[in-house]
Amino acid sequence: MSHQVSLTIDGQAVTVDAGTTILDAAASVGIDIPVICYHPHLTANGLCRICSVDVTGWRTQAAACVTQVAEGMEVFAQTDSVRRGRKTLLEMLASTVNLDEAPEILDMMKEYGADTSRIDSEKKRDVPVYDDNPFYLRDYSQCINCWRCVQVCADDAQYTYALNFNGRGFDTTIATFMNDGMMDTSCVFCGQCVGACPTGALKPKRQAMLEDGEDPDSIFQATRMKRQKK
Ligand code: SF4
Ligand code: FES
Repeated sequence: MSHQVSLTIDGQAVTVDAGTTILDAAASVGIDIPVICYHPHLTANGLCRICSVDVTGWRTQAAACVTQVAEGMEVFAQTDSVRRGRKTLLEMLASTVNLDEAPEILDMMKEYGADTSRIDSEKKRDVPVYDDNPFYLRDYSQCINCWRCVQVCADDAQYTYALNFNGRGFDTTIATFMNDGMMDTSCVFCGQCVGACPTGALKPKRQAMLEDGEDPDSIFQATRMKRQKK
């Protein structure tokens, strides 16, 4: 049987089961900590760090989505340094990735006063859109490498393993094995990656064509899986 742990978050007393994350403990008392890479149905990896909070006595901030509570912990989710860190992270993200179709992140940028002119965006990621199957498009110029699509395709839901990553450092992108076209991978076109993507990087082809003003007949023709001739 799990035991209970008591702590404070922004001065508010909280008691939760041991093993609970700071994020869930905060939510249990109505304190909202922002997340980007975290999804409640996927394994948290602590990649984006937007959820970072101050903890008394800790040298560095803690990522609330992966850090478990401890007895007597004092957590601060909205200090100046926490807010400054979030603002800088958002500015860095916006300097390299097109966030025009990421409404939640755009809202955060407003909330934290992110100034997109502060960081030179000369090296914004600019890659061609993959249009290699009838169901969805992949535009990695809008991808924040949050890893949600990879996880939902793998052990968190679909066990299909069609997606992984490619490249290093700044050039790291999500990709198929050997960069094969999606039709040549193990993808079963379940659409779960599209549903889990927090930006416009993965988009149903029908939606994209509707947005481009295409007529229903062309959309229907372009988004049907053609029967293989025997
Ligand atoms: S394609 Fe979407 S879900 Fe996948 S890593 Fe990029 S932003 Fe995240
Ligand atoms: S939401 Fe916690 S690290 Fe991304």
